[in-house]
Parts: sequence; structure tokens; C-alpha cells
Amino acid sequence: MAETAGSLRYRDQVVIVTGGASGIGLGVLQVFVHNGSKVVFCDIDEKAGRDVETNLNVKGPGECKFISCDISKEDQARNVIETTVQTYGKLDCLVNNAGFHPPHRPIDDFSTDDFRALNEINVLGYFTTCKYALPHLRKTQGNIINNCSLVAYIGQSGAVTYAATKGAIVSMTKALAIDEAKYRVRVNSFAPGNIWTPLWERCARESSNYDKTIKTGKDAQLLGRFGTIEECGLVCLFLAADATFCTGININVSGGAELDYGFKNKFDPSE
Ligand SMILES: NC(=O)c1ccc[n+]([C@@H]2O[C@H](COP(=O)([O-])OP(=O)(O)OC[C@H]3O[C@@H](n4cnc5c(N)ncnc54)[C@H](O)[C@@H]3O)[C@@H](O)[C@H]2O)c1
Repeated sequence: MAETAGSLRYRDQVVIVTGGASGIGLGVLQVFVHNGSKVVFCDIDEKAGRDVETNLNVKGPGECKFISCDISKEDQARNVIETTVQTYGKLDCLVNNAGFHPPHRPIDDFSTDDFRALNEINVLGYFTTCKYALPHLRKTQGNIINNCSLVAYIGQSGAVTYAATKGAIVSMTKALAIDEAKYRVRVNSFAPGNIWTPLWERCARESSNYDKTIKTGKDAQLLGRFGTIEECGLVCLFLAADATFCTGININVSGGAELDYGFKNKFDPSE
């Protein structure tokens, strides 16, 4: 794990990461602990969360505390914020990350209940943590970092509900940045493209051809590879520690996937 310029860049700052037991959230958690922060992370996967907590606390130099939580449940999300402030006395940064990507299918095969349930995690989960964290972030002039997705900007086939929830996070980030500026609270987002995580692997396994799906995933980037969870963590560290004149912005962590023309024709050439 890279420690930039040999210094602890976010030492003793208190950070919350949602969905920190695996994938991008884990990368964010690792980078902050490695840079001296005190991080409370939550996840629905209690076993993975406890294992991460034990292993990371051995490494330090910061520390972490795991709380089992389903972020779509308001009382559980509120408990994460309150326990953090009770434990460490303040809150400097909230990283909203916990989210889900359903298997790809056309709109005909999504029910309204499917969409409602996804909103509860991907949108309401972010709203709830922001709502309960902001009274504390205003005291520290802290910041919020929302993990959205590149597909919020470029769309994605077979993912109408997912793309809609991520687009909502981009808009929520900007609207909150406006309202919270008077408290000197910054609100920004980052938009991962294809990052190699258990979620991406699950999506590949659900596809008809695992190897081809992974190759296509790599080839979607100008840089010819998946991004890493550490690269996402380093962008979050930059937004929290260094980007003190940035609010309401989004940083793509996408290897250039959104650039240039690609093969996008949806029509069968034989037609
Ligand atoms: N991997 C990618 O390529 C990619 C690209 C763009 C955006 N994202 C976004 O990044 C975030 C993390 O994705 P990932 O790929 O690391 O996924 P992941 O499944 O590997 O990790 C997500 C973590 O969140 C937890 N989680 C899920 N639902 C939760 C809930 N209701 N409450 C608490 N924890 C919950 C999971 O248990 C898991 O530990 C998601 O919001 C996803 O939409 C991922």
C-alpha cells in the first residue's frame, strides 16, 4: 500500500466508510488506516468485517472499528454515525460506498419493487448517512465523498435501475455541496469505471462467458486494465486531505473508459 511522501496524510482524522468489508470500500479503508486515520466501517457481511478489522488493526498505523449494519435501514445507519462520534468524539469525513449492482437485464424484466429495493441501498442509504453525519461534519468543517459510478454519466446496457440510482448520487452531491458550503463542509464524488472487485467478479460469473466478459471489461479502458481498489482509496484520500478548494466535483477513476468512439452499434449487420 503506497504511503505518499512518507507522511501520514490524514492522521487522527475520524472517517466513516460504508460497505468497507470488501471491494472499493475495503481499498478506501486500507488507504485511510495506512495514512493514520481512525476509521469506522460498516457492512452487512459481519464475518468479513470482523476479519478485516482484526487484520488491519495489526498493521496500523491508524485504526479501524467494524459495525455490522444494513445501510438501507435508517436506525442502523444512524447507529453507525452515533457510535463513531461516541467512540472518537468527532467526525471528519464520510465515505458513502455501500451499493449493489443487479444482474443486467432490460427494463421489462425489472419490477417496480426491484427498483424500490435498489433505491433503498444505493440512494436512501447515502441520504441517511449524510443526514445524520452532517451535524457532526459541520462542527469539524469536514467532508463527504460519495462513490457514484461512471455509468451515472455514460449509462450502461441492461442497467436502467442501477444507472438511475448512481445518477441520483451525482445530483445529490451537487445539491448538498451548495447547501453545506456555508458550514465549510465539502461534498464531492468519485466515479469508478471498471474496478476489479468481488462485485465485478460476480457480474462476470453471471454472464454467459466469464473469460470474454473479463477481457471486454479490461478492453473498455484506454489503459487496458481494470482499476484497483487502492487507486479508488487514493482518490478518496486526495479529496479528503488535499482537495480543500474542491466541492461539488466528481473525479472519474475510469482509465479513460469514457473517451473516444467505440463499437456501439446495437443493430444486427445482417438486418
Ligand atoms: N466495481 C466496480 O467496477 C464499480 C464501478 C462503479 C461503481 N461501483 C460502486 O462501488 C461501490 C462498491 O462496489 P464494489 O464493486 O466494491 O462491490 P462489492 O460487492 O465488492 O463490495 C460492496 C460492499 O458493500 C457491502 N454492502 C452491500 N450492501 C450493503 C448494505 N445494504 N449495507 C451495508 N453494506 C452493504 C457488501 O457486503 C460489500 O462488502 C458500489 O456502490 C458500486 O455501485 C463499483
